[in-house]
Amino acid sequence: MAESVTITDNRTGESVEIPITNGGVDAAQWSKLLPGVWFFDPSFSTTAAASSSITELDGENGILRYGGYPIEQLAENSSYLEVAYLLLHGELPTAAEFEVWEHDITYHTFIHENVRKRFMEGFHHDAHPMGIMVSTLAALSTFYPNAKDIDDPEVRYKQIIRLIAKMPTIAAGAHRHSVGMPFVYPDNNLDFCSNFLSMMWKVAEPHYEADPVLSRALDVLFILHADHEQNCSTTAMRVVGSSHADPYSATAAAAAALYGPRHGGANEAVIRMLTEIGSIDNVEAFISDVKAGKGRLQGFGHRVYKNYDPRAKIIKQTAYDVFEVTGKSPLLDIALKLEEVALNDDYFVSRKLYPNVDFYSGLIYQAMDFPMEMFTVLFAIPRVSGWLAHWQEMLDQNSRIARPRQLYAGPAVRDYVPVEAR
Ligand code: CMC
Repeated sequence: MAESVTITDNRTGESVEIPITNGGVDAAQWSKLLPGVWFFDPSFSTTAAASSSITELDGENGILRYGGYPIEQLAENSSYLEVAYLLLHGELPTAAEFEVWEHDITYHTFIHENVRKRFMEGFHHDAHPMGIMVSTLAALSTFYPNAKDIDDPEVRYKQIIRLIAKMPTIAAGAHRHSVGMPFVYPDNNLDFCSNFLSMMWKVAEPHYEADPVLSRALDVLFILHADHEQNCSTTAMRVVGSSHADPYSATAAAAAALYGPRHGGANEAVIRMLTEIGSIDNVEAFISDVKAGKGRLQGFGHRVYKNYDPRAKIIKQTAYDVFEVTGKSPLLDIALKLEEVALNDDYFVSRKLYPNVDFYSGLIYQAMDFPMEMFTVLFAIPRVSGWLAHWQEMLDQNSRIARPRQLYAGPAVRDYVPVEAR
């Protein structure tokens, strides 16, 4: 069977045969036959916007792999920093390579005092930490003006290190500001996650000791959230990066995309939903309301997964590890009941709606005492490595500036009418 499609222009009878390569057809071949006829795909549901070697996602079969490695194996055996290296280099590091990588990231965790004192402290006390993070990321571009030199490999590497390293510092700083606690400087003797927990929770003790189970649980969550191929925020990163904006500005754009409740904000929406449901006795009624179109079941459904999100399975297990230390979340029973009811209901089954990564992650964050406003920030910390991997790949592919077309549906030409005559 020929691995190709043939498109015929019925107006002229001309046709073009286009080979199917890596599961896609080259749209440039189509436009040769049909100049001025555009694919209409407003939410990119059927558009492959990039050829990428970073992450493989098979939504029908619930498969997620970074660089070919199954997410389950990485969550079990790897660390977030190792995974970040894999995403950016395409290979797992050797012991020597990892030593340099970890050292470089550890020694770029500090942020400029002006960023902290004058910029971050300038926010109103009730500013959403995600808003602070988006703005601070954008502001960093003014502190590192040479970041604009995106073609210099050394400059590029430096910004990648800085961004991965500074995310936890910015995140914790945003939280401390919102609760009126003094900023905690990074402790470079600690590993990535323990250092973040120290910056979050340290009070007067000389050295903060994070619970190793909680630190590891956070590391697993960071691995699971590190990349997810061409999602909304990664697409924002690639699109803004394609204009050759500096990486801080592009990362701020990606973080802004993540902020939305349909993307990184869903974990927060899940906790609000579970709190609103209040008791397992109300689950059936809530599901009926969802089916009647009164709101969505938060943490369910996915544009790509038409099967159980593999990350949700791992997170569910991690939740039990965390609850061993923190005590069980009172919302867990409601979540379990919701999942059970939905997975046995034809509305959800027929639409292939399964729990996604956000269904259980909020419960873990809440059990670890993170305020709800921090949930999306916790998603952003590791996702920056995925964004940067895609940004780097896009630049290496010498991609053209992202510039889609439109189908114009507005008024035809008409003459300007002076205001007094309207
Ligand atoms: N609850 C109830 N019905 C739903 C849900 C849901 N969570 N998700 C989709 N549907 C229904 C939807 O109403 C539609 O039904 P119909 O065909 O009768 O009109 C059908 O399923 C298809 O939905 P869609 O809106 O075309 O799906 P989409 O691919 O555009 O949206 C989604 C994907 C994730 C935005 C959506 O499933 C949703 O809003 N889920 C809740 C929010 C959420 O959990 N988001 C986190 C996504 S995972 C984290 C990340 O990657 O950022």
